[in-house]
Amino acid sequence: MTIRLDDRFVRPFLSDYELKKTEADVEKAIKTLRTRTGAGAEMLGWLDLPEAYDKEEFARIKAAAAKIRSECDVFIVIGIGGSYLGSRAVIEFLKSPRHNLLGDGPRIFFSGCNISDSDLDELTEICRGKNVCINVISKSGTTTEPAISFRYFRAMIEEKYGKDGARDHIFVTTDKCRGTLKKFSDEAGYETFVVPDAVGGRFSVLTAVGLLPIAVAGIDIDELMGGARDAMKELDTDGIADNPAYNYALIRNTLYRQGKAAEILVGYAPYLLMLNEWWKQLYGESEGKDGKGLYPSSVIFSTDLHSLGQFIQSGERMMFETVLNIEKSDSDAKVPFDAANVDGLNFVAGTSLAEINNTALNATVLAHVDGGVPNVILNLKDRSAHSLGYLIYFFELACAVSGYTLGVNPFDQPGVEAYKKNMFALLGKPGYEDMADALRARLK
Ligand code: PA5
Repeated sequence: MTIRLDDRFVRPFLSDYELKKTEADVEKAIKTLRTRTGAGAEMLGWLDLPEAYDKEEFARIKAAAAKIRSECDVFIVIGIGGSYLGSRAVIEFLKSPRHNLLGDGPRIFFSGCNISDSDLDELTEICRGKNVCINVISKSGTTTEPAISFRYFRAMIEEKYGKDGARDHIFVTTDKCRGTLKKFSDEAGYETFVVPDAVGGRFSVLTAVGLLPIAVAGIDIDELMGGARDAMKELDTDGIADNPAYNYALIRNTLYRQGKAAEILVGYAPYLLMLNEWWKQLYGESEGKDGKGLYPSSVIFSTDLHSLGQFIQSGERMMFETVLNIEKSDSDAKVPFDAANVDGLNFVAGTSLAEINNTALNATVLAHVDGGVPNVILNLKDRSAHSLGYLIYFFELACAVSGYTLGVNPFDQPGVEAYKKNMFALLGKPGYEDMADALRARLK
C-alpha cells in the first residue's frame, strides 16, 4: 500500500470500548457515503473522479500547459481557498517551495488569495517586461478577492497585448455554464476549463482547477491521477480494519469524542507546508459547523519544535498529532566532518540528513506521547506524483467519512458567507443597506 497507518502511538490512548462505539458510526458513515444517501450527496463528483474525469478536457489542459510553458516567463494563478490551495500544495510538494528559482518553465505566482495591496504591487513589478499568462479560477466567478485580482491582471494583459492578443494569455477555469465568468470568457474568446458542478472547491484539486497550474509546473498529471485512481480502488473496502482512510476517520472521531479539540498535521520538510494548508481547508471547512469539529492546525518540524514544541509537549492537553512521514528521501546529503568539531557534532559526521530527520521524528513522537499527546502516523511511500495523488484521495475520502461520522454535511460551507455579507454591507454594495447602519454602529 502507498499509505500505511501506524497506530502504535495512539492505541494506548483508546479503549476497545470507545473504539467499538465509534466504529459503529463510522460503518454507518461509510454506507451513507457509498450509497450516496447523505447530506450533500449531490457534491460527490470527486468520489469517482480519478476514473470518470473528462478525457477531452484533460488533453486540452496538457496542450494549454505546454503552450504556457513555452511562451510565458510568468504565470499568475488567480484564485482563493479551494481554487488555489490544491495546486500550490502539489507544486510545492513535488517541485519545491522554491520552484521559481529552479528554472523549470515559467515562474508561477498566486494572486487573488488575499486583498493585500503590497502583494499586488509586488506581482505587478515582477511582471514588468515579462511575457505573462494568467489562469483565473473561480467557480462562482464573483468571489471578491480573485475578482479584484482578475480585473487588475486582465487590464495589464490587454494593455500589453491588446484585446485580441489577450486571448493567448488568459485562461479561465469556472462553472460549466451558469456563472457570469463563463459567459464573459466565451464572449471575450478566452479558453475555458470546467469546475464540475458536483465537486466543491476544497475537493477540486484533481479537476482543471488544480491540474492546469500543476501541468504548467511541469508535473506529470497522468501519474498524479494514476495515484488517485489506485487509491480510489484500493480504499473501497468492505471493512474498516485494512483501510487506512477509514481507520484514520475512526481514530480522529474517537479522540474527538474523548474531548480532543484540535488535530495538528505534522510534516518534517518545508515542501509539506502548503499541503498542510490544503488539508486545513479540507477538514476545517468540511467539519467545522453546527458547533462541532476538530480544529485543524499544522506544523513543520523540526522548525516549529523551536516555537510551538513547548506548548505541544506540556501546554493545555487539547490536541493530538497526525504525523505525515515521507518514507523515502530523494537526497543523499550527509553531515560533513569538521576537524574543529566546534559544535561537538562529529558523532554524526557522515550520517545522512534523512536519517537525522527520521530520528527527530521518532524522538518527537515518543516525547509528545509521554507528554500525553496521541500520535497517529501516516507513512507515505515516497515523494512521487503517484503517491501524492494517492494521498489526496486518501484525505478526501477520510474527510467525507469523518464528516458523516461527526453528523455534519461535509460538503457545504454556510459559515463562509458571514464575513462576506458584512464586508459587502460596509463597502456599500447595493441591497445591503439595512445591514450597514447596524454594523457601523457596532464598530463605533
Ligand atoms: O471550498 C470552497 O468552496 C471555497 O474555498 C471556494 O473554493 C472559495 O471560496 C473560492 O470560491 P470560487 O471558486 O467560487 O471563487
